[in-house]
Amino acid sequence: MTRGLDYGADYNPEQWPLDVRLEDVGLMREAGVTILSVGIFSWAMLEPREGEHDFGWLDDTLDRLHGAGIRVALATATASPPPWLTRKHPEILPELADGTVLHPGGRQAYSVSSPVFRDYALRMTRTMAERYGEHPALALWHVDNELGCHVPHDYSDDAAAAFRRWLERRYGTVAALNTAWGTAFWSQRYGSFDEVLPPRTAPTYANPTQQLDFARYSSDELLVHYRALRDVLREVTPHVPTTTNLMLSTGTKWMDYFSWAGDLDVVANDHYLRAHDPEGHVELAFSADLTRGVAGGDPWILMEHSTSAVNWQPRNRAKGEGEMLRNSLTHVARGADAVMFFQWRQSAAGAEKFHSAMVPHAGRDTNVWRRTVELGAALGALGPVRGSRVRADVALVFDYPAWWGAELDSHPTQALRYTDEVLAWYRALWRRNVTVDLVPAGADLTGYRVVVIPTLYCVTDHAAAAVARAAEAGASVLVTFFSGIVDEHDHVRLGGYPGAFRDLLGVRTEEFFPLLDGERRTLDDGTSSQLWTEKTHLAGAEAVRTYADGPLAGWPAVTRRAVGDGVAWYAATRLDETGTARVVDALLTEAGVAPAAEAPDGVEVVRRHGEGTSFLFVVNHTGADVTVATHGRELIRATDVDGEVRVPAHGVAVVQES
Ligand code: GAL
Repeated sequence: MTRGLDYGADYNPEQWPLDVRLEDVGLMREAGVTILSVGIFSWAMLEPREGEHDFGWLDDTLDRLHGAGIRVALATATASPPPWLTRKHPEILPELADGTVLHPGGRQAYSVSSPVFRDYALRMTRTMAERYGEHPALALWHVDNELGCHVPHDYSDDAAAAFRRWLERRYGTVAALNTAWGTAFWSQRYGSFDEVLPPRTAPTYANPTQQLDFARYSSDELLVHYRALRDVLREVTPHVPTTTNLMLSTGTKWMDYFSWAGDLDVVANDHYLRAHDPEGHVELAFSADLTRGVAGGDPWILMEHSTSAVNWQPRNRAKGEGEMLRNSLTHVARGADAVMFFQWRQSAAGAEKFHSAMVPHAGRDTNVWRRTVELGAALGALGPVRGSRVRADVALVFDYPAWWGAELDSHPTQALRYTDEVLAWYRALWRRNVTVDLVPAGADLTGYRVVVIPTLYCVTDHAAAAVARAAEAGASVLVTFFSGIVDEHDHVRLGGYPGAFRDLLGVRTEEFFPLLDGERRTLDDGTSSQLWTEKTHLAGAEAVRTYADGPLAGWPAVTRRAVGDGVAWYAATRLDETGTARVVDALLTEAGVAPAAEAPDGVEVVRRHGEGTSFLFVVNHTGADVTVATHGRELIRATDVDGEVRVPAHGVAVVQES
């Protein structure tokens, strides 16, 4: 029998007495659990006093899980330092921009730049590796936890020193730094690296290049911490793969995960649904595609999501009918080979006691438990999917430094949200069931038939050239407003906007006209636009849409230019949903891109390709039964499909196609 896809959760047995831990194993078997993350927040339990260890409970846990055939992603246990450590060494605590010290009492109260903390974390990691490296349950190392989740930026003195070292490596000389940071402005010229600080709270806008470099440094610095711990694990247990759980979604801005990917043996992601968003499943699909992008197309692990409500949003909505299964299998459809939750058993105490889990407070006689068991059975039946891949004809460029840059202060508008721009285009493609690869700026775009580049504010010459090459080679490329404006140092590309893309697009914008809240412009096809307009001259392109009202009436809003074997489009404004859909349809039609399958509105379709076989995932977000044309075998219900698969309201089908 083929092994199913992996299934599990974070497991925190230290929160429970022995009788509950013993009961857990039976329940895990019933649910079909195959893997658990253990020990993530266990430092204070494993080392209650400096140098004194209590491993008994963890030894027993690992033995018990192994006996039940469950594998373990064992943590380094360094995700939250124990109270004795922060009492002895308060200098390891991180600081905010205004000097506020982040104290212990929650979690993650450490500075990754603190050499003292680093030493303790390395020691703990080595202790774990030496004790458990040969344990038969050990399948994967889980380094720390969600690095940067609560403290993406640390402004402490240790961080300032690390930032200076990072700048010296980047620029070599202080003269080069002065040029890059444009310090001729506002008397900011530095005489030596020693004078440089993180962008701590200042009387007014901090130097934007300093802000951008601090964001780059901070992401790198967290990665450096990961690497240090990872290297210990590799040294002691070279046979065990290592990962850490990323937070790829539109909600996590500050870690450039594309630059982290090469250091993870397998990419693992945590994703939580935006409960306030009626189309949260679109953002979920986006995050799953982004995870696949970071994984370079390889299968990945969904390391955390929730069975139902979380505890940390303003309103913590319980999941609706079938939602947990749909969420889980959307991740699988988009490349996950394992589905895990936070957490196994809902805590009785602590800040997360109202966060759902696989075993809820109310026990087994609950919808959540029944759905948990049902999902385990479904994943058990999806073994054949393991290792298969998703293919896409469309690339959407998603770039962390461009996100940081686009949302800097002292810009034409403070209302621009990078992820809103990205999601607007992603959503239009999602509605067409066209699968999208999310790639960073500078990625090789050849082979894609459509390339979408939303608001890529800062761009290197190299990345801009890759976009132009894609168009020359035959792709339909769409660039949207406030792209190509500055180089990697946040220096404006002079001569008219959108600087780096001006020649490719055949346009020249002379001035921005951002709109006020609620203000709209009508376009000549009756659709509208908001947020942003600009005065754009045609310089080789043709106008596809023009403004029908406002001070720019008659000026181009959307343009198109034939380039080499392809086409370059420019959207100079934020189009409404219909306007966005029309442009997407035009791009898909001219590039000859088809959906994964024809399906009714609200039904999501994605295909994974294996060797000599393919898997059609149909996720029904509607309240009606639907059918989608295909042939083969539906794996979850184990039934043959001849012509069309019927997918129940709120349900999912996975057809191995013949
Ligand atoms: C994650 C974290 C877990 C848990 C979860 C709750 O950020 O890794 O430990 O706190 O959120 O949603």
